[in-house]
Amino acid sequence: MLILGIESSCDETGVGLYDTSRGLLAHRLYSQIALHAQYGGVVPELASRDHVRKLIPLLRECLAAAGVAPADLDGVGYTAGPGLAGALLVGAAFAEAYAHGLGIPALPVHHLEGHLLSPLLSADPPRFPFVALLVSGGHTQLMRVTGVGAYELLGETVDDAAGEAFDKTAKLIGLDYPGGPALAALAEGGQAGVFKLPRPMLHSHDLQFSFSGLKTAVLTATKAPGWTEASRADLAAEFQEAVSDVLVSKAMAALRQCALKTLVVAGGVGANRRLRERLNLVAHRAGVRVHYPELEFCSDNGAMISLAAGLRFAAGEKGHRDGAFTVKPRW
Ligand code: KG4
Ligand code: ZN
Repeated sequence: MLILGIESSCDETGVGLYDTSRGLLAHRLYSQIALHAQYGGVVPELASRDHVRKLIPLLRECLAAAGVAPADLDGVGYTAGPGLAGALLVGAAFAEAYAHGLGIPALPVHHLEGHLLSPLLSADPPRFPFVALLVSGGHTQLMRVTGVGAYELLGETVDDAAGEAFDKTAKLIGLDYPGGPALAALAEGGQAGVFKLPRPMLHSHDLQFSFSGLKTAVLTATKAPGWTEASRADLAAEFQEAVSDVLVSKAMAALRQCALKTLVVAGGVGANRRLRERLNLVAHRAGVRVHYPELEFCSDNGAMISLAAGLRFAAGEKGHRDGAFTVKPRW
């Protein structure tokens, strides 16, 4: 089966073509970062309008790159949530109309399922069952994954997501949107330990996370006597270390709890170099294998949505053909 996947939940327009026997044939991604940068964050209305402009040209490019025609498609999967309502509506309306026009089924996909399964696109994919650490701008979750569609939530953040904490902290110390990668880059030149930040819920004996206090501690540090611009890199490094400490510790605890030796790390924060370094070290000692998506599939993309839809269709899901849809911004 040849499945088209469409992603438009936030500020990235993505399309992917996944063949259930041949794998990913092609994908295209357009990031709106430059558009939103001047406003210091994503402007929902502008995001929706840009998805409208980009979706069809990207799809044409993707079909051409894969050497397939619309008539070759067997189904269309699209992100139905969570995300920005208007942005989701663009992808959903297009996907449903396109599928209806071609007489093929459409399947709404949960954005996080795309992230969760994205390491399966790599050359050396993880095997089920595994523990997944999902760390994106909107979510921080640990899941036990026993198969496609078989996900058990083990723990999650009680307030901010890890990526959100990166972004808000970046803003506090004067970095431009998108803050997470900028903060990580600044941290490379700093030293952790010069500042002392808390490791929230490190010893909570459960798999819950909390990151909002960390942001407040950063704010306090920037208001303390002796704070200078030159201290920013050290504070960024300590912040990154604090987040990594908690993520690494809880991910390892989840693996022990589930008696599993395979960890999948997905979502934008999974691109963080220091987090990967720390995880790899601890995992190696514990005999745990860590799988990351290819870097290009760490942040939002259409390939992971085509994959998730493809695996669901292959598992027998039928989708629907009536063109009806609703999006679920808070799914
Ligand atoms: O998965 P994603 O692209 O979109 C969501 O579904 O949220 O994740 C985006 C998040 C943002 O908060 C961004 O700041 C963060 O991932 N991020 C990073 C890095 N690259 C992206 N955070 C820390 N270090 C990075 N290298
Ligand atoms: Zn995402």
